[in-house]
Amino acid sequence: MKDNLILAVESSCDETAAAVVKNGRQVLSNVISTQIALHAQFGGVVPEIASRKHIEKINQVIRQALAEAEITLDDLDGIAVTYGPGLVGPLLVGLSAAKAIAFAKDIPLIGVHHIEGHISANYIEHEDLKPPFMSLVVSGGHTHLVYVKDYGVYEIIGFTRDDAAGEAFDKVARAIGLGYPGGPKIDKLSKEGNPEAIHFPRAKVADSKYDFSFSGLKSAVLNYINSCEMKQQPYHQADVAASFQKAVTDVLVDNTMEALKDLGLKEIVLAGGVASNSSLREAFVKRCDAEQVRLYYPSPVFCTDNAAMIGVAGYYEFQKGITHGLDLNAVPNLKLGQKVI
Ligand code: KG4
Ligand code: ZN
Repeated sequence: MKDNLILAVESSCDETAAAVVKNGRQVLSNVISTQIALHAQFGGVVPEIASRKHIEKINQVIRQALAEAEITLDDLDGIAVTYGPGLVGPLLVGLSAAKAIAFAKDIPLIGVHHIEGHISANYIEHEDLKPPFMSLVVSGGHTHLVYVKDYGVYEIIGFTRDDAAGEAFDKVARAIGLGYPGGPKIDKLSKEGNPEAIHFPRAKVADSKYDFSFSGLKSAVLNYINSCEMKQQPYHQADVAASFQKAVTDVLVDNTMEALKDLGLKEIVLAGGVASNSSLREAFVKRCDAEQVRLYYPSPVFCTDNAAMIGVAGYYEFQKGITHGLDLNAVPNLKLGQKVI
C-alpha cells in the first residue's frame, strides 16, 4: 500500500512548527522554532510579536521539515494545521500557509484541534496505544480531563474553573523571581526543595469532583511570600517551588484517578507541556503501579507544542473522511467535545 504523507503546521502560540508524518504515527521530521527567548523579557507571550515572528519563520520551518523528511510538496497526501484554540493572529499565520499549499498542490486541508494534537502526541511513541482511555491534558492554556472514546471522539469530563495548570506554574515562578516560562524552572528548582515544607491548599470544586481550580493555590503562594516579606523573613525559594508543585500534582493525580475509576477505564494518557513535569510523572507512575493502571506520556519534545502531534491527529481525522474547505477560519476558543458528566 502507498505510504500516506502528511505535512503538519502548528502556530497557535509561541512555537512556529512544521512536521512530516508518515502513515499516521511515524515522524519523519519535526521542526520547532521557539520564540521563548523573545517573550521572556515581557514575562509572557505578546500576541502581536508572536504573529510577526510566525510570519518571518513559517516558510523556513516548512521548507526545513520537507527537507529533513527528504520529500517535496508533490509527495504530500494532505496538510494538517491547527485552527484553534489559540491566539488568533498566530493561528492565522499557520492556517494561511497551510491553505496556500493545499490550494497550490490541490491536496486536502485538515483542520486540527490543538488539544486533540496534544493527546495524539502519545500515539507517536506508543505503538500499542489506542482508544478508549482517559487523558489528562495539562498545558499553559488548558487543564482538561478528557475521555477519549475513539480516534477523534472526545468527552470532556473535567476542566479548570480558572487558571490552567501551566499558567499557575508560570505565575508562581514569576512571583518567586524565576522568570518565564516557569514550569521547567519550578520543576528544576523543586528538586532542591522539600515538598512537605509548606502546606498549600488542594482545591476541590464543590459541584464537580473532576474539575480543577488553581487560582486559590496561586493566591496562597503569593500570600505566603508577602507575609514573609512583611515580616522581613527570607523564604526558602526551593521549598516554596516544591510545595506548590506538590499541591498541583496531588490534585491532578487525585481527580484523574477518580474519573478513571468511575468510568471503569484502565489507561491514563498524559499530554501537554506540564506532562513533562518530573514530579507529576513520578506521582502518576506511583499511583498507576499501585492501582494496576497503564500510564502513557510522551517524551518532553512531544509534550510541549510541536507539529508532529498535529500531523498524527490530522491523519486520524483524514481516515474518517474529515477535511476542510479553504474557507476554514481560525477559531481562538474552539471547543473539544462536550461536557457530559
Ligand atoms: O503545551 P504547551 O507547550 O503550550 C500550550 O498549549 O499551552 O505548554 C506550555 C506550558 C507552560 O505553561 C510551561 O510552563 C509548562 O507548559 N511546562 C511545564 C514544564 N515544561 C513546560 N510545567 C511544569 N513542569 C515542566 N517541566
Ligand atoms: Zn499546546
